[in-house]
This record gives sequence, structure tokens and C-alpha cells, in this order.
Amino acid sequence: MAKISASVYTSHVPAIGAALDLGKSHEPYWQPLFKGYDFSKQWMKDNKPDVIFLVYNDHATAFSLDMIPTFAIGTADSYAPADEGWGPRPVPDVEGHADLAWHIAQCLILDDFDMTIINEMDVDHGLTVPLSMMFGQPEKWPCKVVPLAVNVVTYPVPSGNRCWALGEAIARAVESFPEDLNVQIWGTGGMSHQLQGPRAGLLNREWDNRFLDLLIGDSDAARWIPHIEYLRETGSEGIEMVMWLIMRGALGKSTRCLHRHYHIPCSNTAIGHIVLEPEG
Ligand SMILES: [Fe+2]
Repeated sequence: MAKISASVYTSHVPAIGAALDLGKSHEPYWQPLFKGYDFSKQWMKDNKPDVIFLVYNDHATAFSLDMIPTFAIGTADSYAPADEGWGPRPVPDVEGHADLAWHIAQCLILDDFDMTIINEMDVDHGLTVPLSMMFGQPEKWPCKVVPLAVNVVTYPVPSGNRCWALGEAIARAVESFPEDLNVQIWGTGGMSHQLQGPRAGLLNREWDNRFLDLLIGDSDAARWIPHIEYLRETGSEGIEMVMWLIMRGALGKSTRCLHRHYHIPCSNTAIGHIVLEPEG
């Protein structure tokens, strides 16, 4: 049977992708940020999954104000890197796992989650930057990916509790897939950041780190954080962190933290990164 073996959480700031693609990752500004991923890159080499269930958000690239699916699962065989205005990132196409994706889509819909099914889409930095952070710049991504795009761009976005419950349902779905597959679930986005308005540039180290503490611990208190708290404490784009609760919900009651990294600033955001294993 398939099994979720671990979880990776990371910010997906587009500037990180640009720094990698333009060969700037060794510059002094970027060094402390990338250094925090050294452990994870080695750990990933030693613990490479067959499939990554990758939770991210699209930034008005594949979707727009014309269509705003709350939860959209990708069932394609492959996904091209999107052109976000300055040409697609020079990274490989992302290979999907259609059989697993359709199985999960069926399980979730029969489990009362109203998923949107996406048979064709390009993927933006929300999905490709985390792959680059964990795998570097390979000619081909070493794992297949099932993308789950979550609307955190246009209000109303899903609640933390709904995200956590979806994570629990994803775990049940993965564990009922008959093939022996090592599956990791990744969560991307966050942490505190606001890109516009009078509070642009807002960062909140204390709140971000309390959130990481909650994810690592066995408390489910994080699922009850209201939207207004994300907005007030972490800025308008900090709401991306509700996506991390999908991953945390999928890991079960207790987790073991293998690695933790937090860095301020990256562009005008706070970078957070943790690697968790389910415990027990
Ligand atoms: Fe984002």
C-alpha cells in the first residue's frame, strides 16, 4: 500500500527561483537562506519518495478571477513550468502520477470534499521553487508530483480547520492506494509577508515561530487560528500558511521534527522551512 512517510514545508518566494536560475545563490545576501536547506537536500537524497503530493497556490497563472477553485487536484501526466511574465523558469517539466491523483480525487470527493479536477495546467513558482530548493537544478525532477492548488489569493479562502480535515482525508486516500508507493506531502507558501498597501513589508518573527512550534507539536491548536489573525499578525499574504495545515493534518497526531530553518528577510518575506516525520 502507499504510505505518507514525511512532510516538507517551505516558502516558495519567486525571488528564490530567480536567484537559483541566475546563479546568485552563493552571493552573501542569499547564502544564509540557502544554507538552511543543506540538511534537507542531503536528507532528500537519502529519503527520496516515489511521489510528492505537493500543496501550493497558483498566483493568477493557471487560474484567474474568471475561475477560483478552492481545492484543485492535478490529474495530468505532466505539467509545464508557467510563463509568469518573464518566460518560464528554466526547469524541467513536472511529471504527474495520474493513477494516484485520480484515486485521491475519487476518495476525497466520496469523502465529501468538493474537489476541482484539473487535467491540464502549467505550474508557477509556487510549485517549482520548492522542487528547486529540495532537488537543486537536475535535468529531470527525480520524483513524480501530484499537485494540489489551494485558493489563498482571493477571499474567501478555506479555513484552517477545513485544510486540516482535508489533510486527514488525503492521508486516508493515499493509504488506500494499492501500489507500494513512498509518498511525501509538501506544503508551500508563507510565512509572514504583505506585498501591498501601507503595511507592505510586514514580517512577524515571533508569530511565525509560534506557528512552527504548533505544527511540530501534537496540538491541533493551529487548525483553529482564524483568518483575521493571519491577516493582522502576518500580513495579507501570510494567509498562505493555511496550506501548511493540509500537510500537518495528513501526518497524524504526533510528529518528529528533522530540520527547522527560519530566515528574515528574503525579498520582502520571512522564510520558513521544516521537515517532519509522522511519529507512531
Ligand atoms: Fe505565494
